[in-house]
Amino acid sequence: MNRPDRLHSITAEQYQELQRRAQAAASHAYAPYSRFYVGAAVLYSTPDASVHIADGCNVENASFRLTTCAEQAAIASAVCQNGPTIHILAVVIVNRDNRPCQPCGACLQTILEFGKPDTVLVFPSEGDEPTVSTLAKILPAAFLLDL
Ligand code: THU
Repeated sequence: MNRPDRLHSITAEQYQELQRRAQAAASHAYAPYSRFYVGAAVLYSTPDASVHIADGCNVENASFRLTTCAEQAAIASAVCQNGPTIHILAVVIVNRDNRPCQPCGACLQTILEFGKPDTVLVFPSEGDEPTVSTLAKILPAAFLLDL
């Protein structure tokens, strides 16, 4: 598994581990309706500067709108592990069957809640190489709550 060139802010070891965790999560996905099995692994830091990984998979429901996306499950797990002050550095998303799998708009907005414009996103595209992008690039007009 080669590491894409543009992952400057993530070490090769972190990238391998994120891929491994996301694949393992995808193998646990519950997707009997779409048969689109997604896994996500989130690399995040805490205020003491330690770095952690949390993972998640999609969990569908017969009432379709109750489905939880893999990225949302992973972020909920990260918050549960280390509380609300986490900072998301990167999210790696995989599809069990290697189908193209860009994070949906709702997931991008959820990642932004704990991320920054330069949070790295890696997800499978057409072809062999995954797309490496940032939140700023694929969510350029995010919703911001100005209270
Ligand atoms: N899905 C995710 O887990 N993450 C996304 O960002 C997009 C879609 C899931 C939801 C549903 O179970 C299946 O993929 C098909 O939409």
